[in-house]
Amino acid sequence: MKDLRTIVLAAGKGTRMKSDIPKVLHTVCGKPIMRYVLDIAKALGSLKTYVVLGHKSNVVKKVLGDSIIAVEQSKMLGTADAVKCTENYFRNYQGDVLIMCADTPLLDKATVKRVVQKRKKTKTACTFLTAVVHNPKGYGRIIRGNGGGVVAIREDKDAVGFERDIAEINVGVYCCQSKELFKALKEIKMNKKKKEFYLTDIIEFFFENGLKVTTVETEDPSEVLGINTREDLAMAEAISRQKILKDFMLQGVTIVDPNTTYIDANAKIGYDTVIHPCTFIEADVCIDSNCQIGPFARIRSGVRIDNKVEIGNFTEVSRAKVGSGTFMKHFSYVGDSSVGADVNIGAGMVTANFDGQKKHPTKIADGAFIGSGAILVAPAKIGKKAVIGAGSVVPKGKIIPDGSVAVGIPAQIISKKEHK
Ligand code: UD1
Ligand code: MG
Repeated sequence: MKDLRTIVLAAGKGTRMKSDIPKVLHTVCGKPIMRYVLDIAKALGSLKTYVVLGHKSNVVKKVLGDSIIAVEQSKMLGTADAVKCTENYFRNYQGDVLIMCADTPLLDKATVKRVVQKRKKTKTACTFLTAVVHNPKGYGRIIRGNGGGVVAIREDKDAVGFERDIAEINVGVYCCQSKELFKALKEIKMNKKKKEFYLTDIIEFFFENGLKVTTVETEDPSEVLGINTREDLAMAEAISRQKILKDFMLQGVTIVDPNTTYIDANAKIGYDTVIHPCTFIEADVCIDSNCQIGPFARIRSGVRIDNKVEIGNFTEVSRAKVGSGTFMKHFSYVGDSSVGADVNIGAGMVTANFDGQKKHPTKIADGAFIGSGAILVAPAKIGKKAVIGAGSVVPKGKIIPDGSVAVGIPAQIISKKEHK
């Protein structure tokens, strides 16, 4: 969008997580919590995105990427103070400001888009996202006047009497007209109980000054979960996982047992691939169509698997490419490897890729046959249609030529004839 900038609030300590790791760097389905809202800002075409950092800002900065501007909040004085820290960047800006808390990883980009569009359409000072939930505890409650319009947001700690029973809550996504936002922030007083400046107080300020505020209510209350505790983190993981699995099933992937299948965000899987129970597939994995994966398989980040591959029980594949039609059906480890097409990896084969200091590559060319229990000490090269006998150890640096047969410890080439 042409006149949209985003502020993501991520300076808080996340005290309730009881962790050395900043809250926003904990992961949900393999992706740092904070990345979820940053990806939404990008998808909505935010021209500039600012992230307010404080607690362990140096650690958080490392995962931001180049296009994001980090802004430091020196003291944790609350969400209004956090937004105020970005003020210098907005002096000559007349457009819209989208504000999101970094700790809401389940938000849907379509929902956030509705908030931005409604601000424009209804020409408000602020449009923000609400949800009606079963358990509003911990969230700001939406206080509405007799006509139904929003009057204020009351934080959980300050809510009294009937306010505590209000089920409509503040999600933490606001789209504001820039000038009105920074004018309002100047007027926010410190909350006496929490000794913080609440961003949510801008709503009451707008109401009292006759400025228009509207809301968008989410259709799916599960997307509003803010991560404050480890319990929230586990809940977000479970919800996000179900969504990921559902999407794959809609795309034609068979998930035999969704309860025991773990697929991270950003994985890609082709149609008619079957994922068997107790399988883990990490972020940035691509699996083509018509594969059989699992049960009990672990496919680590960065792996590329072509079509018609079978990866069976207790097999781990890490930083590797696997060519079309290849089988590795029992107890194997394939790491830092390039495996060609139509390769047969016998039960228990291992690529010994780590020498204690460095990791080394293994190349197994098309049509090779690796016997059960073989160990390939990397760097290793197994030629096209070569055969490695069961239990052999191919020593470090050895090249097994195309079509030859090698057996023993250390493996010796006993035949150079092509294996059929
Ligand atoms: C906030 C909202 C609440 C809403 C809830 C939704 C306020 C005052 N309250 O409460 O109405 O229902 O989110 O999840 O805004 N942060 C900073 N600097 C600070 C304090 C916080 O950058 O000084 C960041 C945090 O890192 C976090 C976000 O702001 O990402 C929200 O802070 P948090 O403490 O989680 O607020 P909640 O109590 O969840
Ligand atoms: Mg929170």
